[in-house]
Amino acid sequence: MATALIIGASRGIGLELVKQYRADGWRVIATARKQEDCDALLALGAEPHKLDVNNVEAVAGIGWKLDGEELDVAILNAGVYGPRHDGFPMETDFNAVMHTNVLAAMRLLPVLAPMVAASRGDGKLAVLSSRMGSLSERSSPAGSLYRASKAALNSVLIDTALVHGKQGVTCVAFHPGWVRTDMGGDSADLSVEESAAGIRNTLATLPASDQATYRNYDGTTIGW
Ligand SMILES: NC(=O)c1ccc[n+]([C@@H]2O[C@H](COP(=O)([O-])OP(=O)(O)OC[C@H]3O[C@@H](n4cnc5c(N)ncnc54)[C@H](OP(=O)(O)O)[C@@H]3O)[C@@H](O)[C@H]2O)c1
Repeated sequence: MATALIIGASRGIGLELVKQYRADGWRVIATARKQEDCDALLALGAEPHKLDVNNVEAVAGIGWKLDGEELDVAILNAGVYGPRHDGFPMETDFNAVMHTNVLAAMRLLPVLAPMVAASRGDGKLAVLSSRMGSLSERSSPAGSLYRASKAALNSVLIDTALVHGKQGVTCVAFHPGWVRTDMGGDSADLSVEESAAGIRNTLATLPASDQATYRNYDGTTIGW
């Protein structure tokens, strides 16, 4: 049975990915930081683990709890937007956004990549980035801190591919679309169902590569 790991699966796109992989018959390992969200994931047939991605002991713990797993798909979905205003950034906001979106990835991706490499040779390691992280396609400075964090996340993913790509780990940074979630808001273009279905289809059809790729949820390429 194919196995997917979703990090940050309490709500929004992460939760929908769990539901769709389960509906498709996959074994799903999923993390959330609150016990009630872990209970809800268990009720969906997933194998839950409690994880705050900013807790360094918990990140190390997930490494040993999942030791020996062979992951066909691993998705680092957890992320925060930070302040909705631009201008002088406060250190607390900077730390919260950079820790969750970047530092956690620097810690988690090296732990997860060998489990993806241990799958049948065409494992996918994905992060939920954003088109706002693109340097080459940038046309607005709005959300500067979030943009910087997702650009840095993309950098971490590219480095992950340089280290683990040759072991059969295909690394993908996703823009999930503008999605109606707590983060995306009610006016966003896409439902979580449409976004998650596109991400899953892109992962299923993406050719194996030792180089990182940056994709829209519908599979089209985005410039780094
Ligand atoms: N929605 C969009 O339009 C959009 C667009 C571009 C990119 N994205 C990216 O897509 C991903 C998912 O977004 P979403 O719209 O589904 O967001 P969301 O509804 O706000 O959900 C965010 C998820 O991240 C988890 N999370 C945040 N901080 C965490 C931490 N320290 N440890 C563990 N989990 C943590 C949340 O868990 P809790 O419930 O415990 O807070 C929740 O499961 C994010 O990385 C986001 O940046 C979204």
